[in-house]
Amino acid sequence: MPRGAFITLEGLDGSGKTTQIRRLAIWMQKRSLDPVVTRQPGGTPTGDRIRALLLDSGATAVAPLAEMALMFADRAQAIAEVIEPALAAGKIVLCDRFTDSTEAYQGGGRELGSATVLEMHRLVCGNLQPDLTLLLLPSLQASLDRARHRNQRTSAQTGQDEGRFEQEKESFYRRVWQKYREIAAREPERVVLIEGNLTIDEVHEQIVEAVSERILTAGHRA
Ligand code: TYD
Repeated sequence: MPRGAFITLEGLDGSGKTTQIRRLAIWMQKRSLDPVVTRQPGGTPTGDRIRALLLDSGATAVAPLAEMALMFADRAQAIAEVIEPALAAGKIVLCDRFTDSTEAYQGGGRELGSATVLEMHRLVCGNLQPDLTLLLLPSLQASLDRARHRNQRTSAQTGQDEGRFEQEKESFYRRVWQKYREIAAREPERVVLIEGNLTIDEVHEQIVEAVSERILTAGHRA
């Protein structure tokens, strides 16, 4: 059985990742590619508990290294329970966030640095790397506006608050944004940067083009 393909979506909060991953999954299903869709943090029962712990703004402040370790605990569980079995079964895995998020948010945003995050990745994830990463990175200003908007709307509608990250200051988001750009520049073979103020349809088209070229015709999948 040929191994499947591992595709990740990355970007700042409010970048439209969730909409795009849904559309990509539907596009694939129409072509009988039957992807496994998952997200981080979360995606397994253990991961959902870690997610609740991390995103609950009422929780006591989590130290940056503890936060990073929890992200990797979640990831280790997802790799064992969802990602590796699916890849071994020849499936395409679509994952909403992976180690690039930890490098951008904890490495950049929380200033732990890339080296610490990448070392932890090596220890926990071995050499598992996405075959393709779609990085949605509109301008910093547009990203900030959308994140702020979404946070206000969600809190008003649900009374719940997943907003611990979203309450961070602009300087935090600027560091995250810059780290994402750094990752894209460092690994152009893996990371496709989708930038500019594009419509949902335009982003979808670019995603489909990248997946078609780099995964479907590149022989990751028959
Ligand atoms: P998510 O629910 O995917 O937010 P969004 O829908 O906006 O993409 O992710 C929750 C938050 O967790 C998000 O602010 C990014 C953060 N995060 C990290 O800080 N480090 C990580 O390793 C991951 C996976 C997420």
